[in-house]
Amino acid sequence: MFDLSKIKKDFPFYKNNEDLVYLDSAATSLKTESVIDAVNEYYTEYTANIHRGDYDNSFIASKLYDETRNVVSELIGNDNPKQIIFTSGATASINTVAYCYALNNLKKGDVILLTYLEHASNILPWFNVAKKTGAVIEYIPLNDDGTFNLDNYKKCLESGKVKIVTLPYVSNVLGYINPIKDICHLAHEYKALVHVDGAQGVPHLSVNVKELDCDFLSFSSHKMLGPSGVGVLYGKYELLDKMEPLFMGGGANARFNKEGEIILKETPEKYEAGTPNIEGILGFKKACEYLIEVGMGNIYKHDQELLQYAKDRLKTLDNITIYNPNSECSIIAFNVKGIFAQDVGSYLNSLNIAVRTGNHCAKILHNVIGVNETVRASFYLYNGKEDVDALYDALKDITLEKCIGAIL
Ligand code: ALA
Repeated sequence: MFDLSKIKKDFPFYKNNEDLVYLDSAATSLKTESVIDAVNEYYTEYTANIHRGDYDNSFIASKLYDETRNVVSELIGNDNPKQIIFTSGATASINTVAYCYALNNLKKGDVILLTYLEHASNILPWFNVAKKTGAVIEYIPLNDDGTFNLDNYKKCLESGKVKIVTLPYVSNVLGYINPIKDICHLAHEYKALVHVDGAQGVPHLSVNVKELDCDFLSFSSHKMLGPSGVGVLYGKYELLDKMEPLFMGGGANARFNKEGEIILKETPEKYEAGTPNIEGILGFKKACEYLIEVGMGNIYKHDQELLQYAKDRLKTLDNITIYNPNSECSIIAFNVKGIFAQDVGSYLNSLNIAVRTGNHCAKILHNVIGVNETVRASFYLYNGKEDVDALYDALKDITLEKCIGAIL
């Protein structure tokens, strides 16, 4: 049973921000008490480095760290924990695919296939790979509203030149869910790999990497109740095993000698050089356990009901333009007619409503929606209808004068 009043109590943030309407979970999520406690306990009870100490506290921390791979695996339907690499965030995970896989495997004329929906993190590394290898960036033509078009995608693949398709599971501005299973199936028919930017999808959807059959999946802890500075790169073992890590250092090598011969550890350790964000990963374990306990199916149902409620309410307002009226995942992007997005954001802030405004790091999305800047309200499992009502009430009689008054 999904009980919102009980869920809210699991987030200490609300005790200190009773009147705040937090609608910016696509940027970062709130954290559960169990996550905060786990970080705190590591600092106060068993601080130690992992896999490097012959004493109890190091054993405790190492065990919890290693177990986190199993919990993450359970959450995303992965049957081999060695396919889970810890990184500093989705950005680092994507860069790992770009520099450790694509840079070494792509050549002149190969195609990297993307969409106009991309967040900077899933486009800038690929521009760099293209520059360095001579590969070419192409964009899958989307439908006019920004939703995915499988026919157009198939036409892109038919050239036979596409080597990697890299795209978001869920757009961080429009909230559309891309049909990843079909995308992977088609890519594999044409011998292309698929990397999925799961930063916005994994927190909200029941993900099963085996069913999706994606080759790589990147996501971040901080958008799914966990600490910042932790990310995951899931990859198929045979790919990860062949790839060379970008960083070398302690913890990732088995041996080396003065002649420069290096024997790396196996995957995933070879990708985790240096002391990792131990406390962050232990907090992330608790976040994943919490999501599993509440149930991703229940979270999805809650998110969908709230999204529908928000769409129904906001679409009755004549003074706003919604850019994703058919949003599928916890995000509404809009503008108030005649008022800059940032001014709307400042006004909402004066009413204790937190939203993100601007281009949301998706700087080529204007090619789809025709504007550079929007106001983005995003929801998660701790939001309720009262949060949507507060947004609606604020927007229904918003004026330019009120916005300017909020800034001055
Ligand atoms: N990627 C995050 C967002 O979309 C920060 O807001």
